[in-house]
Amino acid sequence: MTDTWLVSGGAGYIGAHVVRSLQAAGVDAVVIDDLSTGDARRVDVPFIQADIADCELVAETLRRHQITGVVHLAADKQVEESMREPLTYYRRNVVNLMQLLAAMARCDVGKLVFSSSAAVYGMVDSPQVDEDHPTRPINPYGETKLIGEWLIRDQARATGLRYAALRYFNVAGTASPELADAGRTNLIPMVFDALGRGEQPVIYGGQHPTPDGTCVRDFIHVQDLAAAHVAAIDALDEPGAGHVFNVGCGRGYSVREVIDMVAEVSGRSIEPRMGAARPGDPATVVADAERISKVLGWRPRHDLREMVSSAWHAQPRLLSAGQS
Ligand SMILES: NC(=O)c1ccc[n+]([C@@H]2O[C@H](COP(=O)([O-])OP(=O)(O)OC[C@H]3O[C@@H](n4cnc5c(N)ncnc54)[C@H](O)[C@@H]3O)[C@@H](O)[C@H]2O)c1
Repeated sequence: MTDTWLVSGGAGYIGAHVVRSLQAAGVDAVVIDDLSTGDARRVDVPFIQADIADCELVAETLRRHQITGVVHLAADKQVEESMREPLTYYRRNVVNLMQLLAAMARCDVGKLVFSSSAAVYGMVDSPQVDEDHPTRPINPYGETKLIGEWLIRDQARATGLRYAALRYFNVAGTASPELADAGRTNLIPMVFDALGRGEQPVIYGGQHPTPDGTCVRDFIHVQDLAAAHVAAIDALDEPGAGHVFNVGCGRGYSVREVIDMVAEVSGRSIEPRMGAARPGDPATVVADAERISKVLGWRPRHDLREMVSSAWHAQPRLLSAGQS
C-alpha cells in the first residue's frame, strides 16, 4: 500500500512544493491548512481546511487516512510580528506542535518532519554554521522553532518517534508560477514588491564586514528544499532515526548580488536605496550543509539565477508592466 503523509500548512508556499515532491516520489499526501496565509488553489490532494490546534480533527484525520507520518509546516513565520505578539507565536508554533505530537502518539503515527529555521542560530559569528553551532535565537519566532526541536527530541526519547528537523535557510524561487511565494517578507518578493509600487528596494546596512558591505545569506531553491523533505522521509525508515539538518546551499550571496540578479533577470535598472542596518541582523548567515549531504545524499541543484528567474516569471503584473 502507498504511504500517506499528512502535510500541515500544505496550502502554503513551501508546503505546496513539498506536496508536489511527495506526489512525484509516489507518496500520497493529505493537507490540513487553516488558510491563514495559504491558498487552497495550490492544493490538488485531499484538503481539510482547519486549524492544526483542533486535536480531535487532527486525530480523526490521522486515523481515517491511515497516515504514516506528518510533515509539519503550519506555523506563523514573521519575525517582527513575533516580537509584537509573542503569545500568539508560542500558541500557534509551540502549543499547536505539542497537541500535534499528542495526537500522533494517540494514533500511533511515529514519523515527523519538522520545518525548523536558521533563525534558531541567532547572531552567527562564523562564516558558516553547522548544526552544532550554538543556538541562541534573538526573537520569539526563532525561539518557538528551537523549542519545537526540543519538544520533538524529548517526545522521540520517550516514545520512539522518528524525526527530522530541517533548518531552512533563505527559501526562494518556485517550481511553477501558481506555487510562488505570495508573502512579502523574504528578500526577493520584497524587491518585486518595491518594483511593483514603482519604488526602489531598500538595502538595510551597507557597512557590514562582508565583501560589498551588505548582508550575506544562503539562498535555497524551494524545489531543492522540497526534495530534502522526501529524502528525510526516506531516512525515517531507519529505527531510532532522529536528525537535525541544515538545508541550505552552503554558499552565500550578498543582498546586493541578489538585487543585481533581479536586475539582470528582469532587464530592469535597479538603484537600491541604502537604509540603516537593522538591529540584530547578523552580517553573514551561511549553512554548512555537509551533514545532510553525507547522511541523506541530498544536494541542491538550482542556483541563484534559477531562483530569481522562476520567481520573476511568476509575477504577471510586473511582467506585463515591463512589456508596455
Ligand atoms: N519561507 C522561508 O524562508 C522559511 C524559512 C525558514 C523556515 N520556514 C518555515 O517553513 C514553514 C512554511 O513556511 P512558508 O514560507 O511556506 O509560509 P506560508 O505562510 O506560505 O505557509 C504556512 C502555511 O501554514 C498554514 N498555517 C499556519 N498556521 C496554521 C495553523 N495553526 N493550522 C493550519 N494551518 C496553518 C498557513 O495558512 C500557510 O498555508 C513555516 O513553518 C516557516 O516557519 C520558512
